[in-house]
Amino acid sequence: MRLRSSAFALSLAMIFTAQFLLVSLIAAPAAIAFGQRTSPAQEQQIEQMLATLTLEQKIDLIGGVSTWYTHAEPSIGLTSIRMSDGPAGLRSGLPAIAYPAPIALAASWDPALAERMGTALGHDARSRGVDLLLGPGVNIARAPMGGRNFEYMGEDPWLASRIAVAYINGVQSQGVGATVKHFMMNNQEFNRHNASSDADERTKREIYLPAFEAAVKEAHVAAMMDSYNLVDGVHSTQNGWMNVTLARKEWGFDGVIISDWVSVYDGVEAARNGLDLEMPFANYMSRETLLPAIRNGSLSEQLIDDKVRRILRFSLRFKTSTRQEDDTSSLFSETSDQVALDVARKSIVLLKNDHATLPLNVEKICTLAVIGPNASPAVMGGGGSAIVTTHKSVSLLEGVADYVAAHTQATADCKHAVLYDDGWPANYDVFSQTSFTGGLQQQIFTNRDWSGTASTTQRDHLNEDRIVTPKTGSIRWSGRFTAPRPGRYFVIVHDGRAADKHSIFVDGKAITTNNTDLHGELYYLPIPHPLRQGEAVDIRMDYLPNDSEVYPGLGILQEDDILSTRARSLAAHADAVVFAAGFDKNTEHEGRDRTFELPPLQDTMIRNIASVNHKVIVTLNSGGNVDMRSWLDRVPALLHLWYPGEEGGKAIAEVLFGQQNPEGRLPVSFEQKWEDNPTFHSYYPQDVANPQMPHIRYTEGIFLGYRYYDSPAVNTQHVMPRFPFGFGLSYTTFEFSNLSLSASSLKAGDPLTVTLTVKNTGTVAGATVAQIYVGEHSPTIPRPAYELKAFQKIELAPGESCTVALTLDRRSFAFWSPQSKDWQVDPARFTIFAGDSSEHLPLAQDVTLR
Ligand code: BGC
Repeated sequence: MRLRSSAFALSLAMIFTAQFLLVSLIAAPAAIAFGQRTSPAQEQQIEQMLATLTLEQKIDLIGGVSTWYTHAEPSIGLTSIRMSDGPAGLRSGLPAIAYPAPIALAASWDPALAERMGTALGHDARSRGVDLLLGPGVNIARAPMGGRNFEYMGEDPWLASRIAVAYINGVQSQGVGATVKHFMMNNQEFNRHNASSDADERTKREIYLPAFEAAVKEAHVAAMMDSYNLVDGVHSTQNGWMNVTLARKEWGFDGVIISDWVSVYDGVEAARNGLDLEMPFANYMSRETLLPAIRNGSLSEQLIDDKVRRILRFSLRFKTSTRQEDDTSSLFSETSDQVALDVARKSIVLLKNDHATLPLNVEKICTLAVIGPNASPAVMGGGGSAIVTTHKSVSLLEGVADYVAAHTQATADCKHAVLYDDGWPANYDVFSQTSFTGGLQQQIFTNRDWSGTASTTQRDHLNEDRIVTPKTGSIRWSGRFTAPRPGRYFVIVHDGRAADKHSIFVDGKAITTNNTDLHGELYYLPIPHPLRQGEAVDIRMDYLPNDSEVYPGLGILQEDDILSTRARSLAAHADAVVFAAGFDKNTEHEGRDRTFELPPLQDTMIRNIASVNHKVIVTLNSGGNVDMRSWLDRVPALLHLWYPGEEGGKAIAEVLFGQQNPEGRLPVSFEQKWEDNPTFHSYYPQDVANPQMPHIRYTEGIFLGYRYYDSPAVNTQHVMPRFPFGFGLSYTTFEFSNLSLSASSLKAGDPLTVTLTVKNTGTVAGATVAQIYVGEHSPTIPRPAYELKAFQKIELAPGESCTVALTLDRRSFAFWSPQSKDWQVDPARFTIFAGDSSEHLPLAQDVTLR
């Protein structure tokens, strides 16, 4: 695909200056300061290249030619720019390193680690010939259901900015461009091509834009990707305010603005409003569309020139046309793998640890049960374009089993066994143990609509037996089920062949579930109402076979039985249980939102496990919070894993057994229930009059996450999150003291240094995050009680203490003034708070700004 040859290099040599060629020939990728802007000499080269191109050639350059490639222009020595997803690992068709999801990286609160991950990603990209990485994503989390929250960096613009800038610096240090996406307010995945995210300018400036702004101004990010969603009713790719006024003019962005994959709707409007490159194909920004507009004067050629200039600038800046396509690095990098492991270690958040359940003492655990759908195979990441195919993947089960094997020796009394079950009841048990009063009536019809006479037989069970049927016929099973105990019941169906179709009726009414094919062609359909003991219901399954033999199963389970017999028995006899719950790449991915509840029946399984073992440690995979109401009180320990990448299992084992002290902190508030979230009334479109463009009005404004929970002026009901922003437990304890400020009064704009002492007061080494929040007294405009403005991760040995010094600048005190349309700092009194979560801020000092 890539066009490189000595002829192109030669033509390039004639155009480029000698100085440029010298640099490009002698420098190894890692040694070049790719993060810099282009030099005046390079800008001159760009003008020379541009001058040789026809209008048609220029238009060709602003559209992609296939999924990952742009147009090459041999006459100026320009090769195709190669791109690849994505934010947590390369998706270039070859196996790559899967890093923890960006939300996990944010949970590390460690910009230095983010830079290491960016550098490793940049290296992986280079070793595959990728010029532009399609990440990071920095959209702010509004609601836990957001299908791509796992690809982003949480709810706080400052935290997201610090992680994103470091990540981009890392990627770009390797000679690979980074793409900050999705510009902007792509905070939900439902109806993603049509929904419009609408917010006032202050909300945009203070919450949704800072991470993009920092990526441009501080990290000189190579590219920005316009989102699928509209902003204030205008497609992002046509949104002149975003692309031109803000990004280019105000922030000085001189890189390339690219479309998300198929998010251009009008070529002329996109060309006019700042889009530089349509990907993956020039469907709209094409010769057919643009030439007539230029010829009739409605679009200026200078606009096209400017887009080409930006593409050439990218190429020169990252030397995409003159260096070797692939460097000599091996595709599997031990260094990158180690980075993936370190990020996993440092991002796992310990949310609950009653009675010091964790760490487990590996010596004392003779039987450890590992149960649950997410224990094996490895759940490395969410799905969609962030998927990574790997060389290696360590599941939770493997990680734990390997750790135990490496650290123990079996004795006659204590085998140190790690026993596993996925927790799902076995089909055979379910189907053979369901009893229908008088059995099941089976009717085989010769037509597709269960009409006319049927060949009728009676059977005890429907247990995946071979049933011979006319392929053009239909089958019906009917029976009466009497509840042996009171409770919620589920109809369980095994749809014997992928193309078969079934419908279930309870007392003649069809029941459905959104959760089709829950687990290996097994469907769990809840009976709509709880049954009393002895209550009977008529069950019917209408079946359309797609073959002349089928193998269906039909059974009924009470909620308490949703756990395999083996898992129940393992849990009952184990010294402790690790229950691996959560979402995965099939249940959490772009293109649709996920549920707030865990995937079907996991809640039930957790409760059933907790009823037989008191030492249950739940581990969760997800991009954010889940509904924990039905089980959290029943388990003593909870670890949030996010998506921990290919080495996740190893990191989890180290945390479980205390080799790694958990140090992740929540980058997003975890609500008790969805209704508590400040976006509860504004997350879904309030106005669906036009389904072609539903408007989502961000009416909560700037009061998102902790900015809402911790601000009594807006949170009048004092709704508290279950786990606050910035929170995470440790196996040790820390003490914060001696907060002092470099001045008690200063001029707005002068830097203020905040110092404090942090001490590890426990008995093991560990890390915490010193978090500094700033709040204004009596602001002239409603402001959050306080906002995160600085933080630092600190590792301390037991008994060790250190002094942390952090600097606040003008922006730390500023708000966006809708009146002056600028950042404004009030001459006022402010409080500087310090602590280790948005709700635990034991230290405070006032400062006056003049
Ligand atoms: C996603 C982008 C991604 C692109 C290319 C789109 O569906 O929204 O984030 O970079 O595909 O895979």
